[in-house]
Amino acid sequence: MIDLARAGALSALLLLASCASSGLDDPVPLSDSLSRRARVLGKSFGSAVALGALFNDERPELSRRYREVVASQFDLIVPESEMKMAAMWKGPDDIDFSRVDRIADWAVANGLRMRGHVLVWHRSLPAWLVEGRGRGAYANDDVAAMVEWYIRRVMGHFKERYPGLISAWDVANEAIGPNDPRSGGPFGLRPPGSDYRGEGQDFWRLCLGDDYVERAFRWARSADPEAKLFYNDYHDEYGNPKGDAIFDFVSGMLDRGTPVDGIGLQCHVSVAYLDMAFPGIDFSLRSVGETIERWTGLGLEVQVTEADVGMGAGEGRRQAGLFSGLVAAALAERGASAFVTWGFTDAVSWREAERPLYFDRSLNPKESYYAMLDALEALEEGRGGLRP
Ligand code: XIL
Repeated sequence: MIDLARAGALSALLLLASCASSGLDDPVPLSDSLSRRARVLGKSFGSAVALGALFNDERPELSRRYREVVASQFDLIVPESEMKMAAMWKGPDDIDFSRVDRIADWAVANGLRMRGHVLVWHRSLPAWLVEGRGRGAYANDDVAAMVEWYIRRVMGHFKERYPGLISAWDVANEAIGPNDPRSGGPFGLRPPGSDYRGEGQDFWRLCLGDDYVERAFRWARSADPEAKLFYNDYHDEYGNPKGDAIFDFVSGMLDRGTPVDGIGLQCHVSVAYLDMAFPGIDFSLRSVGETIERWTGLGLEVQVTEADVGMGAGEGRRQAGLFSGLVAAALAERGASAFVTWGFTDAVSWREAERPLYFDRSLNPKESYYAMLDALEALEEGRGGLRP
């Protein structure tokens, strides 16, 4: 089994190590700040960060610039991989917090808050757990007790050591099937084989049952009664049958008294989506706003949690239009509390080939950065508006 978290951390290191350094001789001064502008609206602006980029002894100047951008532009960060189960859970009684604690210490020192990402996700499974269950070392009830322990221990660690640092926890991630959810498992849960990597897609269903998401939320609530508990997923930010399935799924959980406080809309999109037309899919900024309003109507808080916008050659302006449109559409909504992107520089991105972020590989701002600042300024001045 591939340790995705480890692979992610490693690729961040390699990408940062290999990225062009020319711009660093002449880094563009950053006189404005995304989070400072967002704060005027009562919102947060954040990014995923990778430990290997935050502290990279081999490229200290790049690493310094990386930290400078994070500290000046954001008030909220999320560890891209270091807080995932496969990265931290080393054995039945062994959780290794050392890597994520380095990020948390730095966040505290710089006055940033953190999202907790993620407690239960089918793509970050400790190999020893999956193999142990396969050999019959753990029965399903054992796995349930172990996961409950893991959630209690992880949330307890941050509550005690970093009080107030974690503003929201992604309790469960991507539980709903990616394609036609209503033809999947009960509630549209991810069916076997639905994961594009074919890994572990139904492990949690097998071990914990079809109500595994609900169980995870209840465990999380009892681990930290004050924590904000989020369900996080992708391709549900706009009009899409998957969004409807997630809405029904979470509504059902709320009806049964499950302690869900918020919805994370990942928002991994591409400029190319603007040119596509699929029946039943409405990829428009208006539908992003409507999606958020629908969740707000259920009393839930909404955050954009992982935004990135894939682009092709020469599409910088269109990327800027889409990024700023998403910021405007989301943060115009009363119920949306944060806009978080999945990294900020094209040098450190899981979709690196698509250059989906708003600082270039030399860590200088792209057009998309300035367009998002403009969108925030427009919201501030009450001009708001949806830009295509
Ligand atoms: C991704 C990381 O960016 C990669 O480095 C890692 O290899 C796999 O995970 N949805 C999520 C994130 O919730 O955790 C994923 O992050 C991207 C998709």
